[in-house]
Amino acid sequence: MSEQLITGGDSKAGRYAILLPQLEALIEAESDAIAVMANVAAAIMGTFDFLWVGFYRVVGEQLVLGPFQGPLACTRIARGRGVCGTAWVEDRTVVVPDVELFPGHIACSSASRSEIVVPYHDALGRVAGVLDIDSAMTSTFDDTDADWLGRAMASLTARLGKSLS
Ligand code: SME
Repeated sequence: MSEQLITGGDSKAGRYAILLPQLEALIEAESDAIAVMANVAAAIMGTFDFLWVGFYRVVGEQLVLGPFQGPLACTRIARGRGVCGTAWVEDRTVVVPDVELFPGHIACSSASRSEIVVPYHDALGRVAGVLDIDSAMTSTFDDTDADWLGRAMASLTARLGKSLS
């Protein structure tokens, strides 16, 4: 696809409906996972007014910071720690409406109020990393985000899973 992001939609689902095909095109167009993650983070940030959008990759027993858009972030998260580590060990999307109410939440930014974390997988079905999105407002994320972002991470898994094993 061209490097021009198209945005629009008068609802959250409408915005995702315009965004997802572009994410899938970005994912299909490139075999290098880091390059794909960088553009995926930029496209999501360019569509929504989020605080932070980025990836953490599984490296041994830790999540290590990957491509992101937004303020500086923690570089390493231990397995099972925080929202990201929980999504990893439980292998599920975690939606946190109020980070202050999530035990063990890791506050990389004091401006973060709500969060969603969506895992992606390698070719063997193991969690290879997570997409993490933070909002400066509470209750930003719901099942709509989980659904659309889950589809994006399924595409990323299908295209790049072999290189992530
Ligand atoms: N809040 C996350 C840490 C990563 S930052 O939000 C970018 C967590 O609790 O895992």
